[in-house]
Amino acid sequence: MSDKKKTSSSGRRMMSVRVKTAKRRKNSSTQWLKRQLNDPYVVRAQEEGYRSRAAFKLMEINEVVPFLKKKCRVVDLGAAPGGWTQVVLNYVDTNHPDSQVVALDINPMDDMAGVTVMELDFSLPEAPDKLFEVLTGPVDVVLSDMAPPAMGHKQTDHLRIIGLVEMALDFALEVLSPGGTFVAKVWQGGADHDLLKLLKQKFLKVKHIKPPSSRKDSAETFVVATGFKG
Ligand SMILES: C[S@@+](CC[C@H](N)C(=O)[O-])C[C@H]1O[C@@H](n2cnc3c(N)ncnc32)[C@H](O)[C@@H]1O
Repeated sequence: MSDKKKTSSSGRRMMSVRVKTAKRRKNSSTQWLKRQLNDPYVVRAQEEGYRSRAAFKLMEINEVVPFLKKKCRVVDLGAAPGGWTQVVLNYVDTNHPDSQVVALDINPMDDMAGVTVMELDFSLPEAPDKLFEVLTGPVDVVLSDMAPPAMGHKQTDHLRIIGLVEMALDFALEVLSPGGTFVAKVWQGGADHDLLKLLKQKFLKVKHIKPPSSRKDSAETFVVATGFKG
């Protein structure tokens, strides 16, 4: 470790960690490890018991546009390892009969008290029906932080990303109650033209938010649509 000091996002001073290049570790892996170890949000997530640094993105989005409430039915798509779900649980009282939290991911996710965890590929045609089966009523919030693994072909990657956002929105339009909220991760300067048009038709307010915890060098941003017209 070097003795260079930094201030973490939680206001604490932290040490900058230097990573030695191990013979068998690829340079890209070394860079990733170095970034993780020196990322104040990774440190904060560990300190505060969040499963991922992504938790702070949802916290920051909800600070700008507060939509998470005590009585709330929430579907969290692309939920693993569960940082966003933990933030949802900070607000939602899952004991309330009109509340429910469903977390879905193509990858396994550790259980969380009060949450229905589903391991399922959301791009499968049967995925929405499987979700309907577990829902106990109309949904107030649909979240999508889904990110397909990059194939390395820019156009293909972009199409897959847009495909998942469109599927998430189709689902949201079917399950949301009037006044409901849709939040989705989008890329490359925001939701594409057709998607944005549809969002503006169906919701009272549509906004793009790049939370401070989203890495500056990442093209990700979030579209937040509130006031579903029903
Ligand atoms: C950025 S991570 C989500 C992080 C999560 N929101 C958190 O706070 O911990 C993106 C997630 O999308 C999931 N994903 C990608 N494609 C998916 C699909 N077709 N169906 C369901 N989940 C998918 C990935 O498995 C991954 O866990």
